[in-house]
Amino acid sequence: MDKEEKYSLLTEQVRALTAGETDGVAVMANVCAAIQEAMGFFWTGFYRVAGGELLLGPFQGPVACVHIAFGRGVCGSAWEQRKTLVVPDVELFPGHIACSSLSRSEIVVPVFAEGGEVVAVLDIDSKELATFDDTDRRYLEAICQLIAPVLSGELESQAVEHDADA
Ligand code: SME
Repeated sequence: MDKEEKYSLLTEQVRALTAGETDGVAVMANVCAAIQEAMGFFWTGFYRVAGGELLLGPFQGPVACVHIAFGRGVCGSAWEQRKTLVVPDVELFPGHIACSSLSRSEIVVPVFAEGGEVVAVLDIDSKELATFDDTDRRYLEAICQLIAPVLSGELESQAVEHDADA
């Protein structure tokens, strides 16, 4: 299977894993596992925007830094610039935060709430240089769009309203 085919199946899997779910942590946890299983990256995880910073969320891989400030590192920069950052060589990225010295390249994709604010970022690290390209960007952005409604809490509030009616 080439990368495009793997991502295509992965996207369908994420769609299925997300359907009907209302808990952001559960969805992020399963999405990390699905990405790792399909693609075999070094580290895949989410940082949530919480208390004005990025806070480590569900991930797969070695332990990672817990707090990242707005504009700091690749993750904080993707949040600040509100766009996906593809970094072919982390050593050439000013301010890169090295959670592991084994990480050589990285992609960070913001997750946007319906109102447009960034609610989380998806961060993926590779042990090889220049792992991520436009195919990764396209599919990972689509995956983040699929899970955005759950993360931004829209479904949770709907579920609460529904329960209240019952
Ligand atoms: N390298 C990231 C920090 C997170 S770890 O890679 C898991 C950054 O520069 O934002």
